[in-house]
Amino acid sequence: MNGNDFAAWMAAIQQRTENALAALLPDAAIAPPRLHDAMRYAVLGGGKRVRPLLAHAAAELVGASPERVDRVACAVELIHAYSLVHDDMPCMDDDVLRRGKPTVHVEYDEATALLVGDALQALAFQALAEMPPGDSPAAQLEMVALLARAAGSRGMAGGQAIDLAAVGQQLTREELEFMHIHKTGALIRASVVLGAQCGAPLAEGQLERLDRYGKLVGLLFQVVDDILDAQADTATLGKTAGKDADNNKPTYVTLLGLSEARRLADSLLADARDTLAILGPRAARLDELATFIVHRRF
Ligand code: IPE
Ligand code: IPE
Ligand code: MG
Ligand code: MG
Ligand code: MG
Repeated sequence: MNGNDFAAWMAAIQQRTENALAALLPDAAIAPPRLHDAMRYAVLGGGKRVRPLLAHAAAELVGASPERVDRVACAVELIHAYSLVHDDMPCMDDDVLRRGKPTVHVEYDEATALLVGDALQALAFQALAEMPPGDSPAAQLEMVALLARAAGSRGMAGGQAIDLAAVGQQLTREELEFMHIHKTGALIRASVVLGAQCGAPLAEGQLERLDRYGKLVGLLFQVVDDILDAQADTATLGKTAGKDADNNKPTYVTLLGLSEARRLADSLLADARDTLAILGPRAARLDELATFIVHRRF
């Protein structure tokens, strides 16, 4: 695949995800208008849409209907957007900038930010539960359960709890990996698996490889997020650079230093790409996405 082809594919998925999200989110004129306005503010017009991209890329393995994949893409992005709104609140990371704009609690108020998160999470599950039916209602229920596990206390929310408890502490490498796999990895892993569940079931061994790819890329994503926080500038990131150090957070950069963290990202990338090998040419987008995640600038 050449780079232009990948860039065009990415832009197309980002645009169709934007359209699908805009259609799912209640119009800002519907009561209560301030909450709906804030929900649209939190979700639309920003973000790389990495989780939707992963879902669409994984769906290429199974020949899924694009409308079903759109629903999965929206569901994972809505959970992600909710997690960012809460992550930025004063009781968590206390950030004022997100996706180049004031954070939701700054632009609106804290109570609204809390409710935006609540409502986006509910909308994510509504989107999945109401998606165009596939061949098996049982398979669809399993998708809802998978997203719930990824978002909950044994997934993303649990990882966030560990992150907050770790402020000012030094974690071991194992503890740091556990935290990252949960706070960020769980939803990324779910995005990959849910994408593949939109079509005909994969063979057991293939699903297992895909799940492993999702786990590696989920960890990789947060390792790179840690590196960018330490290395990039606020204007490029669209969020406050240096925030992890300000907040006294243990990260891969504090544990290993920048160049060793970079080396780890490269080695996780190599593992992720190897894992895709048995899936053949239909995994090309997943391969390109893993590379994009490591080499992104924000
Ligand atoms: C940032 O996620 C928060 C993490 C889980 C590391 P992204 O880097 O995917 O943020 P957006 O969606 O592109 O803004
Ligand atoms: C965020 O991790 C993880 C979730 C939002 C679940 P960070 O706190 O590192 O994300 P950023 O750097 O604020 O985007
Ligand atoms: Mg955080
Ligand atoms: Mg944060
Ligand atoms: Mg970060």
